[in-house]
Amino acid sequence: MSHIPVLVDAVLAGLNVAQQPGGWFVDGTVGAGGHAHAILSAAPQAHLLGLDRDPVALALARERLAPFVERATLVHGSYVDLPQHVTAWRGAARPVDGILLDLGLSSMQVEDAARGFAFRHDGPLDMRFDPTGGGTTAADIVNDYEADHLADVLYRYGEERNSRRIARAIVAARPLHSTRQLADVVAAAQRGPRQQIHPATRTFQALRIAVNSELDVIAQVLPLAINALGPGGRLAVIAFHSLEDRIVKERFRHEAADCICPPRQPVCTCEHVARVRLVTRKPVQADEAEVAANPRSRSAKLRVVERLDTEV
Ligand SMILES: C[S@@+](CC[C@H](N)C(=O)[O-])C[C@H]1O[C@@H](n2cnc3c(N)ncnc32)[C@H](O)[C@@H]1O
Repeated sequence: MSHIPVLVDAVLAGLNVAQQPGGWFVDGTVGAGGHAHAILSAAPQAHLLGLDRDPVALALARERLAPFVERATLVHGSYVDLPQHVTAWRGAARPVDGILLDLGLSSMQVEDAARGFAFRHDGPLDMRFDPTGGGTTAADIVNDYEADHLADVLYRYGEERNSRRIARAIVAARPLHSTRQLADVVAAAQRGPRQQIHPATRTFQALRIAVNSELDVIAQVLPLAINALGPGGRLAVIAFHSLEDRIVKERFRHEAADCICPPRQPVCTCEHVARVRLVTRKPVQADEAEVAANPRSRSAKLRVVERLDTEV
């Protein structure tokens, strides 16, 4: 299944792409290159650096962006290393005009059973965005963590109310090797009213976030991305669930505030200076037509900030 990029027009508007035909843009999650293609089409002399942790995604992006080979640079790497990648691409201390982070995973990753992201397919319990890089897999977490630790992961990263019960059921069913096995164990352990989502949805989300340290890297990259922007440069982030969106919202508010003292403190002592202004006060979401054409867009929330011309 090919990946349909979400909120494309809002991303182009948010990044001021048409106003910067020769701009320098970074797509930190280039995926299959849908947004990158739109940026390079809308800005005919623009240059784009595309990053992705997944070498399979990068190969797709390379194919999709072949018409722009002179202007697109694709690199296998994490957006958490954005400053190093930007320096290697543009040279030290050269700011960029726009950065996009389209968080989460692509339709191709979900649909490829061998990647182990989906409870609807049977595959190995992997879930690494970068399967070439070693590191912890979902199987390691499911089979090795103590029940309490596992329950914490399910609760924190999946907001799973039955986390303790599910963790105990997983421990009792060890060893678990496949996504189907895990989904069945989780489904059997669920209690309470029937939910609209599949009973294993929250568990799979939690494991994927833990395997890839997703929330940590999102929190780390936001200030780094703002550092990389020149005055007037913009950062656009698309989140797909409330844990991601909360991190983005809070960091953007913090960066946009001239004072971060506790609300009841009568006199400001923090000397905090805003580095950005909020371009989107509320997140931009897909309209009905987009949701009908691409159901994945239903949960997407886009937030944009613009770098101010301040020396901080
Ligand atoms: C929603 S998809 C992006 C789709 C893309 N915007 C498009 O139009 O095709 C998210 C992508 O981010 C990648 N990704 C996840 N974490 C990453 C990280 N820390 N650094 C770089 N890429 C990452 C995933 O491998 C996936 O390909």
